[in-house]
Amino acid sequence: MKGIILAGGSGSRLYPITKVYSKQLVIIYDKPLIYYPLAVLMLGGIKEILIISNEDTIPFYQKLFGDGNKLGLSISYKIQTAPNGIAESFILGKEFIGNDSVTLVLGDNIFYGYLDFFYGAIADTSPGATIFGYRVTDPERYGIVHFNSEGKALSIEEKPEKPKSNFAVPGLYVYDNQVIEISENLKPSPRGELEITDVNVEYLKLQQLKVKKIGRGVAWLDTGTPEALLQASNFFGVIEERQGMKIACIEEIAFIKKFISEKQFQEVIESMPKSMYRSYLEKVLQEQQEEN
Ligand code: G1P
Repeated sequence: MKGIILAGGSGSRLYPITKVYSKQLVIIYDKPLIYYPLAVLMLGGIKEILIISNEDTIPFYQKLFGDGNKLGLSISYKIQTAPNGIAESFILGKEFIGNDSVTLVLGDNIFYGYLDFFYGAIADTSPGATIFGYRVTDPERYGIVHFNSEGKALSIEEKPEKPKSNFAVPGLYVYDNQVIEISENLKPSPRGELEITDVNVEYLKLQQLKVKKIGRGVAWLDTGTPEALLQASNFFGVIEERQGMKIACIEEIAFIKKFISEKQFQEVIESMPKSMYRSYLEKVLQEQQEEN
């Protein structure tokens, strides 16, 4: 399973925050937004990751993650020259995906809680795609899935004016290799984009689309407005301060998931400037050493 993070878009709705750098670099409490979706891929055991973004922003991600080696990952980068839509990820990522399956996460999507819904989808090797449905109060802003009384998906519509349900499709999608060909055959939508919803509709037509509802124990947070950014920061601030544990701390995840050895973890810590983040990781290491 390969992983793609699409971290594109102009972020114009967040102007002037996004005048200098892209939305996925905005801070959510104590770390850049993109750490959260990257952490989700890592927790899913995905180590080969492609970050797609525009030419101006890729150097920032390279500065953050390099080639991923320090995290036990292999991270590569690809330029999206224009905002041609989410589904273009699979065309740009064709070589990277090769013959494998692929999980796509949008660089501005945050998930928190038990991620079993996602782990189950990764473990499922039957043909097709798995996407998710999450209850929201503002369905007109998202891809919306409509279920019948047996919970089977009947339709998916992108930002419908009259939504048939309150179940939005979050920006986390698990596809088999057919996704490349499906994306290559898509026509741009009226807004001029290759829509991820159209990819999902194709899988639905093939009767190879699984849509799993995400339960209320999981937070899927929005990052589309200044209020939403503040709410997300407060949300993670409260939990991190209360528990004394960090969320989406990619170095800790790399260590706990054994992507890197204790020695490598130590080296990563030593390369960091003195900071609360570093002190936290020192504590993680110390606790682990005491346990062994
Ligand atoms: C995109 C997708 C939409 C999905 C949403 C999740 O919307 O087109 O189907 O529900 O991401 O974040 P956009 O980011 O273009 O508003």
